[in-house]
Amino acid sequence: MERTALFPGSFDPFTLGHLAVATRALTVFDRLVIGVGENTDKRGLLTPERRKDLILKVFEAEPRVTVVLYEGLTGDYCRRAGIRHLVRGIRNVADFEYEHAMEMANTQIYPEITTVAVFTPAEYIPVSSRLVREIITMGGDAGNFLPHNINIKNYL
Ligand code: PNS
Repeated sequence: MERTALFPGSFDPFTLGHLAVATRALTVFDRLVIGVGENTDKRGLLTPERRKDLILKVFEAEPRVTVVLYEGLTGDYCRRAGIRHLVRGIRNVADFEYEHAMEMANTQIYPEITTVAVFTPAEYIPVSSRLVREIITMGGDAGNFLPHNINIKNYL
């Protein structure tokens, strides 16, 4: 039986760190659905549609990856889509605290869903979408933090 996981996030924008986590997840799962969801605490740089288009471009040569936009709770989307695994990347202790709290809440509400934490490879630990947004907003070049086959200007 094929194993499918949802890799949810706000992906504003999708970075090299996200790519590294997705690549690691693809060694465990047969298919990865990358879900652009809503983090109500975060201000948007790219529209959700552009975030999705950017991720589609990153994985244009990888048929095991699909990209979706969803609204509402991540667990509800999983139930609608029949997905029972969530993938989340962890860079550091701050990520761990946040992810553990989210995992515990999700497990209370959706006991059939298992969250699989994937450690971010060391070289990508300093990379974050927040940093990339700041660089871009202030007119800098964030190219070193972004997947190499995309030009962020095409998505702003
Ligand atoms: O990349 P992010 O911003 O850390 O992603 C967070 C995201 C979008 C995955 C998370 O905020 C989320 O799942 N949002 C949808 C609402 C939800 O399900 N919240 C968690 C309840 S336990």
